[in-house]
Amino acid sequence: MSWKGVTIWFTGLPCSGKTSLASAVRDKLNKRGYYVEALDGDVTRKYLSKGLGFSKEDRDENIRRVGFVCSLLTKAGSISTAAFVSPYRAIRKEIRNQIGNFVEVYVRCPVEVCIKRDVKGMYKKAIAGEIKNFTGISDPYEEPEDPEVIVDTDKESIEESATKVIEKLEEMGYIEESKPYFFKLPLYLLKELQEIADKEGYESIDDLLLKMIVKSMNSFQGPKTLSKDEKEKIKERLRKLGYIE
Ligand SMILES: Nc1ncnc2c1ncn2[C@@H]1O[C@H](COP(=O)(O)OP(=O)(O)OP(=O)(O)O)[C@@H](O)[C@H]1O
Ligand SMILES: [Mg+2]
Repeated sequence: MSWKGVTIWFTGLPCSGKTSLASAVRDKLNKRGYYVEALDGDVTRKYLSKGLGFSKEDRDENIRRVGFVCSLLTKAGSISTAAFVSPYRAIRKEIRNQIGNFVEVYVRCPVEVCIKRDVKGMYKKAIAGEIKNFTGISDPYEEPEDPEVIVDTDKESIEESATKVIEKLEEMGYIEESKPYFFKLPLYLLKELQEIADKEGYESIDDLLLKMIVKSMNSFQGPKTLSKDEKEKIKERLRKLGYIE
């Protein structure tokens, strides 16, 4: 359904909420009829980037590969979400330029809150020195300078953060605005309706349309019910023709 591809790139500290938010955004888009391809660090590191570690070079290579996949999807008109810590500014900029239709979401959360969440127990290990180069503890995170969206996941609910992203996509024209009770009428029809509304003394076209809908519903009487006699006559005819006994 999407005619204009876009990559929604979620960047932030481990446990800041990237995966949860990307999944909430995907659900919302699916409900509106958009198919979404979701790329996530947890999965791509098993396949696309198998064997890569967490040195700066390897991290950049990981993001470059994911960025390449996103650029293909985006060119083909798909909506993709990408949830990666992606701590380095330069590589994020590089893939932004490569992809073009790029919406960067800074999933912001103080490191202390991330440590408390510690969904996968990685912070605990990093603090104990068991994991080297862990972003936020022993490796830097370079904040985005000019992201399209910033969400503060320590203050907002997932629903609120996801809504911010959706609104930005609408604003930038990547998805259609959702107005459930809105439909477009051709201009000539609007003019005609306005004339009728003025002539008949309605305050607005909306009032006139409402009246017309109610009127047409009232005039609809449903299928005619047959009397006993009428039913018998029909049966008799069908019997003579041999359709029923
Ligand atoms: N506004 C919010 N947006 C996203 N997550 C939130 C929000 N508020 C609270 N959370 C919680 O924060 C946790 C974030 O975990 P999640 O796995 O999504 O983080 P992540 O950034 O993908 O981490 P990782 O880099 O390790 O993959 C979840 O338990 C989620 O419910
Ligand atoms: Mg994640």
